[in-house]
Amino acid sequence: MAEPWWKSAVVYQIYPRSFADAGGDGIGDLAGIESKLDYLVDLGVDVIWLSPVYPSPWDDGGYDISDYEDIGPDFGTLADFDRLLATLHGRGLKLVMDLVVNHTSDEHPWFVESRSSRDNPRRDWYWWRPPRPGGQPGVPGTEPTNWASFFSGSAWEFDLPTGEYYLHLFSGKQPDLNWENPEVRQAVYAMMRWWLDRGVDGFRMDVINMISKDTALPDGPVRGPGPYGDGAAFFIDGPRIHEFVNEMHKAVLTDGDLLSVGEMPGVTLEEARLFTDPARAEVDMVFQFEHVGLDHGLSKWDVHPLDLRDLKASFGRWQAGLAGVGWNSLYWDNHDQPRIVSRWGDGSPLSAKTLGTLLHLHRGTPYVYQGEELGMTNYPWSDITQFRDIESIDHYADAIARGADPELVLTGLRQVSRDNARTPMQWDASVNAGFTTGTPWLPVNPNHSEINAAAQRDDPDSVLTHYKRLIALRHEERAVALGDFTMLLPEDRQVYAFTRRLDSTELLVLCNVSGTPAAVELPEPASWDSAELLLGTHGTAGTGTLQPWESRVLRRVVA
Ligand code: NOJ
Repeated sequence: MAEPWWKSAVVYQIYPRSFADAGGDGIGDLAGIESKLDYLVDLGVDVIWLSPVYPSPWDDGGYDISDYEDIGPDFGTLADFDRLLATLHGRGLKLVMDLVVNHTSDEHPWFVESRSSRDNPRRDWYWWRPPRPGGQPGVPGTEPTNWASFFSGSAWEFDLPTGEYYLHLFSGKQPDLNWENPEVRQAVYAMMRWWLDRGVDGFRMDVINMISKDTALPDGPVRGPGPYGDGAAFFIDGPRIHEFVNEMHKAVLTDGDLLSVGEMPGVTLEEARLFTDPARAEVDMVFQFEHVGLDHGLSKWDVHPLDLRDLKASFGRWQAGLAGVGWNSLYWDNHDQPRIVSRWGDGSPLSAKTLGTLLHLHRGTPYVYQGEELGMTNYPWSDITQFRDIESIDHYADAIARGADPELVLTGLRQVSRDNARTPMQWDASVNAGFTTGTPWLPVNPNHSEINAAAQRDDPDSVLTHYKRLIALRHEERAVALGDFTMLLPEDRQVYAFTRRLDSTELLVLCNVSGTPAAVELPEPASWDSAELLLGTHGTAGTGTLQPWESRVLRRVVA
């Protein structure tokens, strides 16, 4: 049987607000994306994943949607969308929409109706619960459960007019939909079909493994300084999750050409195998979070240096675990993660290239987040007023209220704030990096004078050129897309090495993930002496010592 097309595809994620502004209001838009199609075609990617472009009060960067079947006025109109989609298709690109259905905005008509009275027919579309017995409604401690929201504070908001609380795992403006109610599920499927009828090619499903909750709503353990508990065990991969995702698949996703990827914080390998087993008809692949948590301490703000051996153990387990059944998605950056070159690289173009090689040569579908292909870095934040991300702002306020040192809190934000990913795309060296003629909604990184697409386009040594080669390699060399994966040197702290094998083709990938030279201690190095160098940062073949941040991809024919 032919392999699905997405096994040899590369996806490019656009965060539209920060990609390209054609209208001059400082906010990226659909027309801006259309104006950059040559760039995307030249890069060679197969699919565009659009972060939300729907109407939204923008409490959480567009992930709070007030109308699922329209385009937000900042981005354009449905006619602009249809034109963009037709143009993309005409250029051989596919388009995947962001599907955010764990929650809506509190300004979505469904929720407006739901909160209007206790007996409204849509009341049960969300999670409404009375205050904890004995407590005083609205006073901390009286919430129906002790769960913390992901954005600090309680996961419950008290609604004075109707005297009940509603659940919001994210912000108070993102009430959770009640997937136990079949009407909710049918309304979501109808909306998905509406987009498919317009011609979109699939969905990236926001926190989709949180849609099934334990209806008993038990309290969770209090791990941090309190008072709130961790409810994850009662809403991550909950009791009916596979039933719901399979039902959605049967209702909407039966066309085998579509792409579905479930974003799944906290998903285990065992669960991921179930989600991505084609025989179970759920999703094609998941975004797992294990590797991007390896440098976290008690919280994501408490950042530690990465131990390369942990990364190998984690990726190695996922590669082996989804080898026979299922499929991996591969990512470093997205709109929620700090920039990889600042995180695990040293900020240099060389480290950007080698981290790209490391990721893209794994088995799975790679996702490139806008600007990653240029080696875009974190932003040099100087104070809290520059941030726009709700998670960062709420965390800062919460930490300061607890007596934390503001400078220390800022240090954490500089390293991991989501706004690092959301600064405008760096197109050229001009004012505002060619992103807008207006005032950008988030500051442009001052390093755009050096790191930008125009400067890299015709430079054979640029990060951009390297990414083009990586993407082309996946299309041209079947062993990259489909070969078996074997991790080597699991205990080496500098060298990340592995092989890929398909039939008689074997690839060896060597990456020096450090700023000092590294000897490569392979069991039979001489057997690679005559291997061909497919891609290298330094043009050197063989298995000799790697220069700082050097990477090589070698190919040989085996019996
Ligand atoms: C995951 C999204 O990627 C993130 O940006 C958002 O804040 C949450 N889900 C809530 O929708």
